[in-house]
Amino acid sequence: MLHYASNHIPGQSTPEATMSLHPVEPFRIKMVEPIRLIDAAARREAMQKAGYNLFALRAEDVFIDLLTDSGTGAMSHHQWAALLEGDESYAGARSYYRLKETMERIFGFAYFVPTHQGRAAENILSAILVRPDQYVPSNMHFDTTDANIRARGGRPTNLVIQDAYNPSKQLPFKGNMDVDRLRAFIEQVGPQKIPFGAITVTNNAGGGQPVSMANIREVAQVYHQYGIPFFIDCCRFAENAYFIKLREPGYAHQSTLEIARQMFDLADGAFMSAKKDALVNIGGFLAMRDAGLFQKVCNELILREGFPTYGGLAGRDLDAMAVGLLEGLDESYLAYRLGQTAYLADCLQRAGVPIIEPAGGHAIYIDAGSLLAHIPPAEYPGQALAAGLYLEGGIRSVEIGSVMFAYPDPETGQMVHPRLELVRLALPRRVYTQSHLDYVANVAGKLAQRKQNLKGYRITYSPPLLRHFTARFEPL
Ligand code: F0G
Repeated sequence: MLHYASNHIPGQSTPEATMSLHPVEPFRIKMVEPIRLIDAAARREAMQKAGYNLFALRAEDVFIDLLTDSGTGAMSHHQWAALLEGDESYAGARSYYRLKETMERIFGFAYFVPTHQGRAAENILSAILVRPDQYVPSNMHFDTTDANIRARGGRPTNLVIQDAYNPSKQLPFKGNMDVDRLRAFIEQVGPQKIPFGAITVTNNAGGGQPVSMANIREVAQVYHQYGIPFFIDCCRFAENAYFIKLREPGYAHQSTLEIARQMFDLADGAFMSAKKDALVNIGGFLAMRDAGLFQKVCNELILREGFPTYGGLAGRDLDAMAVGLLEGLDESYLAYRLGQTAYLADCLQRAGVPIIEPAGGHAIYIDAGSLLAHIPPAEYPGQALAAGLYLEGGIRSVEIGSVMFAYPDPETGQMVHPRLELVRLALPRRVYTQSHLDYVANVAGKLAQRKQNLKGYRITYSPPLLRHFTARFEPL
């Protein structure tokens, strides 16, 4: 049987491959930040005050923070040094040109603008392209992309392969889009109703699973056959490129930089939250080939973010990003990175916790729907598990299920629940050690043994869009 939990290159016998099952950190630690585990009574009190929403906790009351891998990574000494070189000129700063050079090397799009983070790029693209009742297909949109399209009256449409909804199915590229469904969907709604098409690499909403080069190529062909511009949501493009190198025939001897470039050569543009694979605490961009679109993007950017050579960022942020984009593609770093995720997956499975298999790139997704089958989707099993992980061990995770993605059907008003109720344990980059992960698996294992004690939740407040950030809950 195929098993992708470890991330070796099959048949390779370099010293790295034989050194250990999970590659060793290619860095050492030069600065530390203390963390502490507050006691069980204090955790209960913190949760009550937070309305049982983990986003509302004070970070210092969290012991191991796996809420997100976004902006939470540790920068390298090269990045910290680059910050000091930041040129804070309003227009045409040296920092911008250094970032531009890196952008050309990796992505190769004719135009780009920096943005303060990913959702700013999504907002600008949606504001310019999306009209009410238009559709934007993708494998799966993540929360802010989904919401930015809905905010313009559009309808984000997820067309990932059916196997993505089967948590235990072992597939090398479980983030792939269903190309036949994509073609049928375009025929059904008409290409004029689709202002742009997308694909998310890796597929964050569906387990951090990668997309193959072959699939990106086919998806690009279908979009282009119907004259639909194709944008890649590329927050985790480097992890995706490394998965391609490890798992897709023909790429083992290409560099991740070469693989990434081939991915982007297939697209008309990309948007990125640089807070992920660019290894920075803040930043993003929107890139494209079309000069007319670029003009409109600049106008919108100036209104909302800033002048086109800095977007919503300081000059120093652009420099940290220019360095981080290339560090994120380093293959010894990526081997360690994907190895760490695979390690956590192994430990959780040994502790009897069901997860989406195989391990994703940036996170492990616990299958809360199946672990807590006694809690129906309307009572938020993912929320129950996420709350349990904090109360039991001070671990912060995020629900990716009905709290995040259930929405009222525009025609019937009935709540539509997502097909999976997940809890994501996202790994910040270069931050936690193997013993932190052992601790996490241990706490999750204890919780799984006593799962009958976990009860559902009721929402007492929620805003209309992106409710998971500010909703409040009550235990049932
Ligand atoms: N697209 C994807 C696939 C993402 O994962 C995110 C952010 C965004 C876009 C938006 O980027 O936060 O910089 O505005 N995901 C984070 C997460 C927040 O926790 O997965 P942003």
